[in-house]
Amino acid sequence: MRAGVLTMENVMRVSACSSWQAGDGAGSKVSELERGKVIYLPHLAFGLSDKEITLLDVKRVEPKRKNISYNPQNGRLTGVAWAADRPAIEALLARHYHACKTLVAALLPEYQRFLHSPVNTLRLHPVTVWRKSNSWRKDDSRLHVDAFPSRPVCGERILRIFTNINPQGNSREWRIGEDFPRLAQRFYPELGGYSKFTSWLQNLLGITKSQRSHYDALMLQMHDKMKRDERYQQLGLQLSFQFPAGSSWICFSDQTPHAAMAGQFMLEQTWLLPVQGMQRPEYSPLKVLEALAGKTLL
Ligand SMILES: [Fe+2]
Repeated sequence: MRAGVLTMENVMRVSACSSWQAGDGAGSKVSELERGKVIYLPHLAFGLSDKEITLLDVKRVEPKRKNISYNPQNGRLTGVAWAADRPAIEALLARHYHACKTLVAALLPEYQRFLHSPVNTLRLHPVTVWRKSNSWRKDDSRLHVDAFPSRPVCGERILRIFTNINPQGNSREWRIGEDFPRLAQRFYPELGGYSKFTSWLQNLLGITKSQRSHYDALMLQMHDKMKRDERYQQLGLQLSFQFPAGSSWICFSDQTPHAAMAGQFMLEQTWLLPVQGMQRPEYSPLKVLEALAGKTLL
Protein backbone atom coordinates (compact mmCIF):
# COMPACT_ATOMS: atom_id res chain seq x y z
CA MET A 1 0.00 0.00 0.00
CA ARG A 2 1.23 3.42 -0.93
CA ALA A 3 1.68 6.29 1.51
CA GLY A 4 -0.92 9.02 1.25
CA VAL A 5 0.30 11.96 -0.76
CA LEU A 6 -0.21 15.67 -0.30
CA THR A 7 0.68 18.30 -2.87
CA MET A 8 2.91 21.33 -2.43
CA GLU A 9 -0.19 23.55 -2.71
CA ASN A 10 -1.79 21.68 0.21
CA VAL A 11 1.03 22.31 2.63
CA MET A 12 3.06 25.29 1.48
CA ARG A 13 2.96 28.89 0.43
CA VAL A 14 6.10 30.00 -1.40
CA SER A 15 7.31 33.57 -0.85
CA ALA A 16 9.83 35.44 -3.00
CA CYS A 17 11.18 37.16 0.13
CA SER A 18 14.97 37.52 0.01
CA SER A 19 15.49 40.11 2.73
CA TRP A 20 14.94 39.88 6.49
CA GLN A 21 13.84 43.52 6.50
CA ALA A 22 11.81 44.04 3.35
CA GLY A 23 9.45 41.03 3.05
CA ASP A 24 8.23 40.14 -0.43
CA GLY A 25 5.93 43.08 -1.17
CA ALA A 26 2.98 40.67 -1.35
CA GLY A 27 1.48 41.34 2.07
CA SER A 28 0.94 39.38 5.26
CA LYS A 29 1.28 35.60 5.30
CA VAL A 30 -0.77 35.22 8.47
CA SER A 31 -3.89 33.82 6.85
CA GLU A 32 -2.07 30.87 5.21
CA LEU A 33 0.10 30.29 8.26
CA GLU A 34 -2.99 30.03 10.47
CA ARG A 35 -4.43 27.41 8.11
CA GLY A 36 -1.38 25.28 8.92
CA LYS A 37 0.71 25.99 5.83
CA VAL A 38 4.47 26.20 5.86
CA ILE A 39 5.60 29.58 4.54
CA TYR A 40 8.60 28.66 2.39
CA LEU A 41 11.23 31.33 1.67
CA PRO A 42 13.62 29.69 -0.82
CA HIS A 43 15.71 32.86 -1.23
CA LEU A 44 16.00 33.91 2.39
CA ALA A 45 19.50 32.95 3.55
CA PHE A 46 21.16 34.00 6.79
CA GLY A 47 24.69 35.08 5.90
CA LEU A 48 27.52 33.98 8.18
CA SER A 49 30.98 35.52 8.44
CA ASP A 50 34.05 33.27 7.97
CA LYS A 51 34.50 33.32 11.74
CA GLU A 52 30.90 32.30 12.33
CA ILE A 53 31.24 29.43 9.85
CA THR A 54 33.99 27.98 12.06
CA LEU A 55 31.36 27.71 14.84
CA LEU A 56 29.52 25.08 12.79
CA ASP A 57 31.05 22.07 14.49
CA VAL A 58 29.22 19.51 16.66
CA LYS A 59 32.03 19.66 19.21
CA ARG A 60 30.91 23.16 20.15
CA VAL A 61 27.62 21.91 21.64
CA GLU A 62 27.77 20.43 25.14
CA PRO A 63 27.78 16.61 25.09
CA LYS A 64 24.25 15.17 25.47
CA ARG A 65 22.68 18.55 24.60
CA LYS A 66 20.58 18.63 21.46
CA ASN A 67 21.11 22.32 20.69
CA ILE A 68 22.63 25.56 21.83
CA SER A 69 19.82 27.89 22.88
CA TYR A 70 19.57 31.58 23.67
CA ASN A 71 16.99 33.69 25.42
CA PRO A 72 17.49 37.23 24.10
CA GLN A 73 15.41 38.76 26.90
CA ASN A 74 17.60 37.63 29.79
CA GLY A 75 20.76 36.80 27.79
CA ARG A 76 20.71 33.17 28.98
CA LEU A 77 22.84 31.00 26.68
CA THR A 78 22.82 27.22 27.24
CA GLY A 79 24.48 24.22 25.63
CA VAL A 80 27.83 25.79 24.68
CA ALA A 81 30.63 23.24 25.23
CA TRP A 82 33.56 25.67 25.50
CA ALA A 83 33.43 28.95 27.41
CA ALA A 84 35.72 30.60 24.84
CA ASP A 85 32.96 30.21 22.20
CA ARG A 86 30.30 31.97 24.22
CA PRO A 87 30.79 35.59 22.99
CA ALA A 88 30.79 34.64 19.30
CA ILE A 89 27.79 32.28 19.63
CA GLU A 90 25.83 34.81 21.69
CA ALA A 91 26.53 37.51 19.09
CA LEU A 92 25.38 35.19 16.28
CA LEU A 93 22.16 34.23 18.08
CA ALA A 94 21.41 37.84 19.08
CA ARG A 95 21.86 38.92 15.44
CA HIS A 96 19.65 36.07 14.25
CA TYR A 97 16.93 37.01 16.77
CA HIS A 98 16.89 40.62 15.55
CA ALA A 99 16.70 39.45 11.93
CA CYS A 100 13.71 37.22 12.80
CA LYS A 101 12.01 40.14 14.54
CA THR A 102 12.29 42.30 11.43
CA LEU A 103 11.03 39.37 9.33
CA VAL A 104 7.91 39.14 11.51
CA ALA A 105 7.34 42.89 11.05
CA ALA A 106 7.54 42.39 7.26
CA LEU A 107 5.64 39.11 6.79
CA LEU A 108 3.48 38.64 9.91
CA PRO A 109 2.88 42.23 11.07
CA GLU A 110 -0.36 41.36 12.90
CA TYR A 111 1.60 39.26 15.38
CA GLN A 112 4.22 41.83 16.39
CA ARG A 113 2.50 43.04 19.52
CA PHE A 114 1.44 39.57 20.67
CA LEU A 115 4.55 37.39 20.31
CA HIS A 116 6.41 36.68 23.53
CA SER A 117 8.96 34.34 25.17
CA PRO A 118 11.52 34.32 22.33
CA VAL A 119 14.15 31.57 22.30
CA ASN A 120 16.41 30.72 19.40
CA THR A 121 18.64 27.74 18.79
CA LEU A 122 21.79 26.87 16.90
CA ARG A 123 21.42 23.25 15.82
CA LEU A 124 24.75 21.63 15.01
CA HIS A 125 24.03 17.89 15.07
CA PRO A 126 23.17 15.96 11.93
CA VAL A 127 19.52 14.89 12.23
CA THR A 128 20.47 11.26 11.58
CA VAL A 129 23.04 10.96 14.37
CA TRP A 130 20.68 12.47 16.91
CA ARG A 131 17.95 10.05 15.83
CA LYS A 132 20.00 6.90 16.39
CA SER A 133 20.81 7.69 19.99
CA ASN A 134 17.33 8.50 21.27
CA SER A 135 14.01 6.96 22.25
CA TRP A 136 10.97 7.03 19.94
CA ARG A 137 9.49 9.88 22.01
CA LYS A 138 12.46 12.13 21.25
CA ASP A 139 12.83 10.89 17.68
CA ASP A 140 11.91 13.92 15.56
CA SER A 141 12.19 11.89 12.35
CA ARG A 142 8.71 10.60 13.22
CA LEU A 143 5.83 12.83 12.16
CA HIS A 144 4.61 14.85 15.14
CA VAL A 145 3.22 18.17 16.29
CA ASP A 146 5.29 20.00 18.90
CA ALA A 147 4.23 19.90 22.54
CA PHE A 148 6.59 20.88 25.39
CA PRO A 149 6.68 18.26 28.19
CA SER A 150 8.05 20.59 30.88
CA ARG A 151 6.76 23.95 29.68
CA PRO A 152 2.95 23.99 29.35
CA VAL A 153 1.63 26.55 26.85
CA CYS A 154 -2.07 26.50 27.88
CA GLY A 155 -3.29 26.79 24.31
CA GLU A 156 -0.74 29.36 23.12
CA ARG A 157 0.73 28.84 19.70
CA ILE A 158 4.31 27.75 18.91
CA LEU A 159 5.59 29.89 16.02
CA ARG A 160 8.93 28.84 14.51
CA ILE A 161 11.24 30.28 11.86
CA PHE A 162 13.89 27.89 10.48
CA THR A 163 16.94 28.62 8.31
CA ASN A 164 19.22 26.01 6.75
CA ILE A 165 22.79 27.34 7.17
CA ASN A 166 24.63 24.23 5.95
CA PRO A 167 27.96 25.48 4.53
CA GLN A 168 28.43 22.40 2.31
CA GLY A 169 25.12 23.10 0.59
CA ASN A 170 23.24 20.11 2.03
CA SER A 171 19.45 20.30 2.18
CA ARG A 172 17.34 19.75 5.25
CA GLU A 173 14.68 17.18 4.51
CA TRP A 174 11.27 17.26 6.18
CA ARG A 175 8.15 15.20 5.90
CA ILE A 176 5.05 17.40 6.31
CA GLY A 177 1.68 15.94 7.26
CA GLU A 178 -2.02 16.65 6.87
CA ASP A 179 -3.98 19.64 8.24
CA PHE A 180 -4.67 19.79 11.97
CA PRO A 181 -8.47 19.25 11.90
CA ARG A 182 -7.97 15.98 10.00
CA LEU A 183 -5.10 14.98 12.27
CA ALA A 184 -7.15 15.72 15.39
CA GLN A 185 -10.10 13.71 14.08
CA ARG A 186 -7.76 10.79 13.50
CA PHE A 187 -6.14 10.81 16.94
CA TYR A 188 -8.67 12.41 19.31
CA PRO A 189 -10.64 9.17 19.89
CA GLU A 190 -7.41 7.53 21.15
CA LEU A 191 -6.54 10.22 23.67
CA GLY A 192 -7.02 9.49 27.37
CA GLY A 193 -8.24 11.53 30.29
CA TYR A 194 -6.81 14.43 32.25
CA SER A 195 -6.11 14.64 35.96
CA LYS A 196 -5.88 18.10 37.49
CA PHE A 197 -4.35 16.51 40.57
CA THR A 198 -1.54 14.84 38.54
CA SER A 199 -0.82 18.18 36.81
CA TRP A 200 -0.72 19.93 40.18
CA LEU A 201 1.66 17.27 41.54
CA GLN A 202 3.94 17.40 38.47
CA ASN A 203 4.21 21.13 38.94
CA LEU A 204 4.88 20.77 42.66
CA LEU A 205 7.67 18.26 41.96
CA GLY A 206 9.25 20.55 39.37
CA ILE A 207 8.55 18.16 36.46
CA THR A 208 6.74 21.05 34.78
CA LYS A 209 7.43 24.78 35.02
CA SER A 210 3.72 25.56 35.47
CA GLN A 211 0.59 23.47 35.74
CA ARG A 212 -0.38 21.51 32.62
CA SER A 213 -3.85 22.34 31.32
CA HIS A 214 -6.16 19.71 29.82
CA TYR A 215 -5.06 21.10 26.44
CA ASP A 216 -1.36 20.49 27.21
CA ALA A 217 -2.12 16.94 28.34
CA LEU A 218 -4.00 16.21 25.10
CA MET A 219 -1.27 17.72 22.90
CA LEU A 220 1.42 15.67 24.64
CA GLN A 221 -0.64 12.52 24.20
CA MET A 222 -1.19 13.35 20.55
CA HIS A 223 2.55 13.94 20.06
CA ASP A 224 3.26 10.49 21.54
CA LYS A 225 0.43 8.65 19.74
CA MET A 226 1.58 10.06 16.40
CA LYS A 227 5.20 9.05 16.94
CA ARG A 228 4.28 5.55 18.14
CA ASP A 229 1.86 4.77 15.35
CA GLU A 230 3.92 2.97 12.67
CA ARG A 231 0.99 2.77 10.31
CA TYR A 232 0.40 6.52 10.54
CA GLN A 233 4.13 7.19 10.11
CA GLN A 234 4.25 5.14 6.92
CA LEU A 235 0.80 5.57 5.42
CA GLY A 236 -0.53 8.83 6.84
CA LEU A 237 -0.98 11.70 4.39
CA GLN A 238 2.42 13.33 3.94
CA LEU A 239 4.83 15.09 1.62
CA SER A 240 8.64 14.97 1.60
CA PHE A 241 10.43 18.22 0.97
CA GLN A 242 14.07 19.28 0.76
CA PHE A 243 14.79 22.75 2.15
CA PRO A 244 18.02 23.76 0.41
CA ALA A 245 20.93 25.45 2.16
CA GLY A 246 20.26 29.18 2.11
CA SER A 247 16.49 28.82 2.48
CA SER A 248 14.12 29.55 5.37
CA TRP A 249 10.63 28.47 6.35
CA ILE A 250 8.01 29.42 8.95
CA CYS A 251 5.27 27.34 10.55
CA PHE A 252 3.15 26.81 13.62
CA SER A 253 4.90 23.65 14.77
CA ASP A 254 2.07 22.79 17.19
CA GLN A 255 -0.29 22.58 14.20
CA THR A 256 1.66 21.35 11.17
CA PRO A 257 2.79 17.70 11.45
CA HIS A 258 6.49 17.56 10.62
CA ALA A 259 9.45 15.16 10.76
CA ALA A 260 13.13 16.04 10.26
CA MET A 261 14.66 13.33 8.05
CA ALA A 262 18.09 14.65 7.06
CA GLY A 263 20.32 17.68 7.27
CA GLN A 264 22.76 19.45 9.55
CA PHE A 265 23.29 23.03 10.75
CA MET A 266 20.24 25.16 11.29
CA LEU A 267 19.15 28.33 13.03
CA GLU A 268 15.68 28.34 14.55
CA GLN A 269 13.64 31.04 16.29
CA THR A 270 10.63 30.26 18.49
CA TRP A 271 7.94 32.54 19.93
CA LEU A 272 4.70 31.86 21.73
CA LEU A 273 1.54 33.55 20.45
CA PRO A 274 -1.69 33.83 22.48
CA VAL A 275 -4.71 32.48 20.60
CA GLN A 276 -6.33 35.93 20.96
CA GLY A 277 -3.46 37.29 18.83
CA MET A 278 -4.55 35.16 15.85
CA GLN A 279 -6.67 36.53 13.01
CA ARG A 280 -8.69 33.29 13.01
CA PRO A 281 -8.53 31.67 16.47
CA GLU A 282 -10.84 28.88 15.28
CA TYR A 283 -7.89 27.35 13.38
CA SER A 284 -5.83 26.96 16.56
CA PRO A 285 -5.26 23.44 17.91
CA LEU A 286 -6.97 24.63 21.11
CA LYS A 287 -10.23 25.54 19.36
CA VAL A 288 -10.14 22.45 17.13
CA LEU A 289 -9.69 20.15 20.14
CA GLU A 290 -12.30 22.04 22.18
CA ALA A 291 -14.80 21.53 19.35
CA LEU A 292 -14.09 17.78 19.43
CA ALA A 293 -14.23 17.64 23.24
CA GLY A 294 -17.38 19.77 23.44
CA LYS A 295 -15.91 21.75 26.34
CA THR A 296 -13.19 24.19 27.30
CA LEU A 297 -9.74 22.66 27.74
CA LEU A 298 -8.11 25.42 29.82
FE1 LIG B 1 9.12 19.26 16.09
